[in-house]
Amino acid sequence: MGSSKGFQLGLLCYFLLLSLDSSKVADGARRDWNSLLKLPTNHVDADSDRIGTEWAVLLAGSSGYWNYRHQADVCHAYQILRRGGLKEENIVVFMYDDIAYDEENPHPGTIINHPQGSDVYAGVPKDYTGEDVTVNNFFAAILGNKSLVTGGSGKVVESGPNDRIFIYYSDHGGPGVLGMPLPPYLYANDFVQVLKKKHDAGSYREMVIYVEACESGSIFEGLLPTDLNIYVTTASNAEENSWGTYCPGMDPPPPPEYDTCLGDLYSVAWMEDSEINNLKEETLLQQYDLVKLRTSNHNTYMSGSHVMQYGNITISQEELYLYMGFDSANSNASLVLENSPLLEKTEAKAINQRDADLLYMWQKYKKSKEDSPERLTAQTQLLEFMAHRMHVDKSVKLVGNLLFGPEKGPAVFNAVRPQGEPLVDDWDCLKKMVRTFEGHCGSLAQYGMKHMRALANICNEGISMDTMATVSAEACTQFPAGSWSSLQRGFSA
Ligand SMILES: *[C@@H]1O[C@H](CO)[C@@H](O)[C@H](O)[C@H]1NC(C)=O
Ligand SMILES: *[C@@H]1O[C@H](CO)[C@@H](O)[C@H](O)[C@H]1NC(C)=O
Ligand SMILES: *[C@@H]1O[C@H](CO)[C@@H](O)[C@H](O)[C@H]1NC(C)=O
Repeated sequence: MGSSKGFQLGLLCYFLLLSLDSSKVADGARRDWNSLLKLPTNHVDADSDRIGTEWAVLLAGSSGYWNYRHQADVCHAYQILRRGGLKEENIVVFMYDDIAYDEENPHPGTIINHPQGSDVYAGVPKDYTGEDVTVNNFFAAILGNKSLVTGGSGKVVESGPNDRIFIYYSDHGGPGVLGMPLPPYLYANDFVQVLKKKHDAGSYREMVIYVEACESGSIFEGLLPTDLNIYVTTASNAEENSWGTYCPGMDPPPPPEYDTCLGDLYSVAWMEDSEINNLKEETLLQQYDLVKLRTSNHNTYMSGSHVMQYGNITISQEELYLYMGFDSANSNASLVLENSPLLEKTEAKAINQRDADLLYMWQKYKKSKEDSPERLTAQTQLLEFMAHRMHVDKSVKLVGNLLFGPEKGPAVFNAVRPQGEPLVDDWDCLKKMVRTFEGHCGSLAQYGMKHMRALANICNEGISMDTMATVSAEACTQFPAGSWSSLQRGFSA
């Protein structure tokens, strides 16, 4: 790596990966977004049978301008809930908050979530920002326990037995794990334990959880009981990535001054649906169907994923306004499921969640002048990211080969348990495996979360921690320096 040959090879691969046609970025593609906001008149539902209070917890788990879209998603969700009538005091927002004023942001102080979208940043409360966006604070907020909170505004979900709660999360993930801006990450069993605890406390009526992340199905698969009054949908099943959208070179593209993706496919699908429809009429199930169709790219699953449901599916028969409120501006909207403008077919409209950072760096490289310092910076950054990927992939593969032999290794690591079974039985073992690996091989980081299944399967095979330590030391003779070192970043578990 580091040679210009390696670099060109990387870019070539990357070209093949994307093969985006920028000629499609024509004006014709720029539909008037506002025209979608009004749908045909139908009927008005005046009386609200809402009881209790509607609460929400919104969390963007990433930081960095190349991850712009996750915080954009969360800000957008906040605006939809506020327009629906939820009160600021009832919405707890977690976001690193480094996007709006990032020096790369062409429109400082604003964030958009759609190519023609307006600012979604204004007014978003800074409940938990920067280093306060942690798993512990997220759990404390859900549990409504202020004494468990460290830093932040101290806002928590102080809900009662008649209240409804909506939780929305957007970020990178991996099998059994959801990312946070700083390690440690969120592990599925801990999340489900917190939900059980909340249920045992009797402090909500029903809860709806939407999760955008790679392998997000694995957070609930085989783990979430059906008797907690919780209904969940996820962007992907337990064994596939989710997708970023509105990226440079796509149709529709972001405005040309943006080098980064503006949204995520599943996330914009539910939000763009919620903001044009009468949420007193549309049910969670109808939204699920529409989001599933859009996120699967019309059931082709080309640049698309399987949106999944978990928990108590009966709840999906309820109307969305019970969780997201109701915007009277949409009271005349009638639900269009077939031929919805949101389901317009386009090509190249999503990128693997895990490759969006490379797209950003490639974009910066391409746009910079030859031999300019910007080009050198972009090139260096891109090479560093790719080198880290190769290091992690290689190390994990080597550990597998050393543990199970070169033939069986990959099969053991890739083995997916049957549907309805959790990723791993012993989650403490998984966390220890992560720490052991990272102690010898450096941080898994955002990209490395994809290897959680391999580490889980080491536990499922009953390998001891001592053996894992020996093998990791053997596989990783060189410890990565700087920001990829788990010593500097802290462990992912
Ligand atoms: C909050 O958490 C603390 C520490 O676990 C616990 O002692 C306390 O009982 C909790 N408070 C409530 C209201 O659940
Ligand atoms: C699922 O939710 C429905 C509607 O609230 C409820 O009637 C039913 O008892 C719940 N099912 C379980 C298994 O808790
Ligand atoms: C809905 O339709 C009614 C009857 O046509 C009209 O009076 C009302 O202004 C409309 N509301 C909105 C928000 O467009």
